[in-house]
Amino acid sequence: MSFAVTGCQQNQRIQTDRDVLRVGVVTYTQDDPFINALTDKLKEDLKAMSTKDVKVIASVKNGDNDQKNQDETIEEMIDAGCDVLCVNLVDRTAPAKIIRLARQDDIPIVFFNREPVKEDLMQWEYLYYVGCKAEQSGVMQGETAAEYIKNHPEVDKNQDGKIQYVLLEGEAGHQDTISRTDYSVRTVLEAGISLEKLSYQFADWNRGQAENRMNRLISQYGEGIELILSNNDEMALGAVEAYRKAGYEPSQRPVIFGIDGLDDALEAIEAGEMQGTVYNDKEDQALQIAKLAFEVFKGEQQVRKELKEGRYYVSQYQQVDSSNVEEFLDR
Ligand code: BGC
Ligand code: CA
Repeated sequence: MSFAVTGCQQNQRIQTDRDVLRVGVVTYTQDDPFINALTDKLKEDLKAMSTKDVKVIASVKNGDNDQKNQDETIEEMIDAGCDVLCVNLVDRTAPAKIIRLARQDDIPIVFFNREPVKEDLMQWEYLYYVGCKAEQSGVMQGETAAEYIKNHPEVDKNQDGKIQYVLLEGEAGHQDTISRTDYSVRTVLEAGISLEKLSYQFADWNRGQAENRMNRLISQYGEGIELILSNNDEMALGAVEAYRKAGYEPSQRPVIFGIDGLDDALEAIEAGEMQGTVYNDKEDQALQIAKLAFEVFKGEQQVRKELKEGRYYVSQYQQVDSSNVEEFLDR
């Protein structure tokens, strides 16, 4: 109540029912395995945050991959009385309407995974972002791939001194697509490995789309593809699937590297069908989102004083290959 008593700010949040924290979580789609795994953790963490004084209720919806649709969903959640929003934008360049609506009702927003541009995030002090530094995942993927190639000369199947590669890209315009592609290739080259680019294919983070793209490339190049760098695990697993269905034994396939560290990918690494990934720490991100939501509601400053520029929580990626995959499977 200190805000009201000191009168330093008209703050609607403190006039609502303080015994219940209603958190509205809105993802960009319901079809993204990484986002779903993160959201499941977030729901658990929010629930576990309930104390004897404050009950936390989370409601999860999705924007059906349409920004207009997501804007409307958020408007409904605000009308239904939510206190804090956690938003995984459909279009990371278009949060203006959501920010305006939330601000009118004094509802803080924790954006996650799809990063708004800085000018948008800096518009208001109750806007936050929880995610990673995309560049780090690209560098780590490149390092893991380079090390593997150096230790396994047989990756260069035709022994021409160059590694023929394919890049599977996520959604165009996503911060992770742009930086992962750029830094992964750059890092392999900087490690002294010669690369020959065969094809870059957008597959929207999606396993099925990547499988289709790879089917075409397999009929075009056969065993000529030696390395696949994928912007995420789902697309890497689509590539594994395409080779499996085309009847290639693991020894005839290219080496395949992903990002995320989802269970299916960790199992593929154990089985030798993928050679590495980069762990995108969904447990850490979910916990930080939950803590931040609770803390802004309570008006506390523990988590917030640690944020970069008062706004950003940057989760750390970790390299995964067959030498440490066990550790991640046990999580
Ligand atoms: C993940 C992808 C996911 C995307 C969704 C990325 O950080 O690596 O798996 O599809 O976020 O925005
Ligand atoms: Ca070669």
